[in-house]
Amino acid sequence: MAFFNIFKPSIIEENDQSDYLTIKEEWRISAENKKIFREYEKSRRRKVDESEYLSVMRDSNNVVEFDDLHTYFYTDVGTVKAVNGVTFDIPKGKIVGVVGESGCGKSVTSLSLMQLVQAPHGQIVSGSIRYQAENGKCYDIAKMPMTEMLKIRGKELAMIFQEPMTSLNPVFKIGDQMDEVVMLHVDGATPASAKARSIEMLNLVGIAMAENVYNSYPHELSGGMRQRVMIAMGLSCDPRLIIADEPTTALDVTIQAQILDLLREIKDRINGSIMLITHDLGVIAEMADHVVVMYAGKIIEQGTVREIFHEPKHPYTVGLMRSKPNVDKAIDRLYSIPGQVPNPINMPSNCYFYNRCDKAMAICSNEYPAMIQFTDTHCAACHLYAENKDTVFFEALGMDSQEEQKENHE
Ligand SMILES: Nc1ncnc2c1ncn2[C@@H]1O[C@H](COP(=O)(O)OP(=O)(O)OP(=O)(O)O)[C@@H](O)[C@H]1O
Ligand SMILES: [Mg+2]
Repeated sequence: MAFFNIFKPSIIEENDQSDYLTIKEEWRISAENKKIFREYEKSRRRKVDESEYLSVMRDSNNVVEFDDLHTYFYTDVGTVKAVNGVTFDIPKGKIVGVVGESGCGKSVTSLSLMQLVQAPHGQIVSGSIRYQAENGKCYDIAKMPMTEMLKIRGKELAMIFQEPMTSLNPVFKIGDQMDEVVMLHVDGATPASAKARSIEMLNLVGIAMAENVYNSYPHELSGGMRQRVMIAMGLSCDPRLIIADEPTTALDVTIQAQILDLLREIKDRINGSIMLITHDLGVIAEMADHVVVMYAGKIIEQGTVREIFHEPKHPYTVGLMRSKPNVDKAIDRLYSIPGQVPNPINMPSNCYFYNRCDKAMAICSNEYPAMIQFTDTHCAACHLYAENKDTVFFEALGMDSQEEQKENHE
């Protein structure tokens, strides 16, 4: 951005309404950011008493509760509100699917839960992430010091990262990387017991010749094998929650199906929960119990998988449902939602979906809609429902009305 600005005539800069910044503006933002980083760094070094990050779960059936979470990136071109007020629960023993288009904040939400947001420019600014730990205590991860977080990260909370090639260290053998996890988190682990556990986990995730893979470097494995290694590594300490960020995106469909079966099987075996992040609605339909739909850093709809697939409320979710392939209908092209997500640095104060929504009303260009509750589990943020409007727009979009959908279903 700065490169282009150097050549930008100052006369244009005066009245320019575009997203370009002058060098001067970038310097100013950068100086402000430095001040913010210093503040965060100071508070990070402060000794924190346990009482400051102990909390109480809203519902004891949940393992994690996100409560109005805000995670921002302070960049030289402005503040990216990657996660901008996210609230949802992950119940014990359930799979929660998180969907939404690229850049909507799915990964940053999960990285916030693991305290892995790239500091200093990435920071949890406000909100809570309550976690029901194995020891019976409820921690607010957003306020937890790193020394305490290290005790649960990798042990109770495991993450399968989006890109297995960049998540595995290329200069260490698979075995060394897997053993490290066990040595760190299992009390009384010895090199021999760690190796035995690593090989047991490699076998569990269906890797043939586990001993050979144990002695290989990441580049010697295929994409599917690396993904399995990541899963094996994540599960080696029997976590309570597995965060799987696009675990199957880089894999072909047969391996995808195997990995999903494996995840489900392991979840049942350890009686854990899964936060499953994906673009793939098919994966969600097959795996998830609850679905959270994100758009531009906010949750726009959430509900059980049945509610989201059979009674989508938000026009964005309706569009998502229309864009999935349907084997029963002969069509020459798939539906795509026109338009683009607003710039994350200058988010408008109106509905973020306004410029793409074919049901937009006057109020949508003025106010961000409040979350409307439809059932105990189903809610959506859309003005259409605030005015008690019926969901006639389903027909306009070529979908069955809600009543018809219910009848068909029954
Ligand atoms: N390290 C970073 N520095 C600055 N901005 C970042 C950083 N990481 C993420 N972002 C911004 O945060 C927003 C959310 O990113 P995130 O990675 O959570 O998207 P996502 O929903 O996981 O997308 P995808 O489906 O492509 O993985 C994006 O606008 C992105 O540009
Ligand atoms: Mg992502």
